[in-house]
Amino acid sequence: RLEKIWLAIGISMLFVFLAVVGVGAFAMGMEPPTSHRHSIDPEKVEQTAPFDKPGLEKVGDKEYNAYMIAYAFGYKQPKMEIPAGSTIHFQVTSTDVVHGFQIPGTTVNMMVVPGEVNHFSYTFTKPGEYLIICNEYCGTGHEFMSTTIIIK
Ligand code: CUA
Repeated sequence: RLEKIWLAIGISMLFVFLAVVGVGAFAMGMEPPTSHRHSIDPEKVEQTAPFDKPGLEKVGDKEYNAYMIAYAFGYKQPKMEIPAGSTIHFQVTSTDVVHGFQIPGTTVNMMVVPGEVNHFSYTFTKPGEYLIICNEYCGTGHEFMSTTIIIK
């Protein structure tokens, strides 16, 4: 009899353990990946901070956030000029369809998805004029979709 009770306790402990592990794994799976995305209403992007004031925000010594809006067919932000050696944390969203965000000659390459804010950080060591292009076909104006960043 006693053995049966212990067996029952043992089995229920096992189930509790499995449940905890299972719930933990499930919760981890639900969490956004470290490439941090978060959601934003594409219709209200221009009224939603920080995208209501697109452009550069200095967040440290030679460190900036760049809030940018991709749309058919361009990128909305004032002229961007920063000193060489600066790191930019790009935070880009779209007001319409999926766009691309690529800076040839760098590792910067990401998709820009309406309803999401996508991030990419890059340190610009060499001065020059960097072209930002859309590498995701987004319509008849796709090939004209570009902007620049000036590194001094
Ligand atoms: Cu935007 Cu192609």
